[in-house]
Amino acid sequence: MKQFARNTPKLPPGYRLVQLDTVDSTNEEAKRRADMGEPGPLWIWSARQSKGRGRAGRQWTSQVGNLFASILLRPNCTHQTAGQLALVAGIITYDTISKLIAYEGRSRLLLKWPNDVLLADEKVAGMLLENLGMAEDARSAVVIGTGINLANYPEDIPQPAICLEAYGLTITPAHALEVLAATTDEWLKRWNEGASFPSIRRAWLDRAGPVGRKLVVQLGDETIEGSYAGLDLGGALQLKTEHGTRTIMAGDVFFAP
Ligand code: BTN
Repeated sequence: MKQFARNTPKLPPGYRLVQLDTVDSTNEEAKRRADMGEPGPLWIWSARQSKGRGRAGRQWTSQVGNLFASILLRPNCTHQTAGQLALVAGIITYDTISKLIAYEGRSRLLLKWPNDVLLADEKVAGMLLENLGMAEDARSAVVIGTGINLANYPEDIPQPAICLEAYGLTITPAHALEVLAATTDEWLKRWNEGASFPSIRRAWLDRAGPVGRKLVVQLGDETIEGSYAGLDLGGALQLKTEHGTRTIMAGDVFFAP
């Protein structure tokens, strides 16, 4: 694996970077800057987080050596359309990791709804999308936070996790961010503020699956068993159960043991 000595990532034209040594959460920092009128697109990258956040109010273990980065965007679209960025974010991180790892590993990469990236069924990255409501005359702000397990991974989470170093890959956070930023720019252009959502949905489906895989969905206190049946046209999970197909808009999804 090629080593990159450079510690400041090169970003595509038009993006700025705030590089921090420590912060509570890169998502929180991006939101604070959005509140102060930051126009974006702006990357916030920190070597460590003291209060890294995961989905559903969970914490995100944030040890030095992994990537913790958030991008603040102000897309010119409705709040609802901006929600499509959850699927776009999954594709971006999947493709970033695919570029970072060796060819043989790529067939073991998988997206699990809504946007976990798994390597051989173990979580290697997660994203937290925060779609912020704004005054009607202002462009809404969206923060997409990405955590990639490069050098270490937590062992105390409900689903198995892994890091790229466990596969013998030594990747610096700076290099991972450079690849993430280039891939983000590529997919934001393809998404085109929602105009190309059908092709985004297809790209997501190509990276997920297989259809028919047994899943367990946790919706608050409710546990639903079924099998993966793709996405509806809006990007919600389709779960085939013994009572018919259910559309899942939120929840935790696990592979059935
Ligand atoms: C999840 O899978 O639960 C989402 C994890 C998202 C973690 C990233 S790390 C960078 C950004 N800052 C945070 O506090 N969270 C996201």
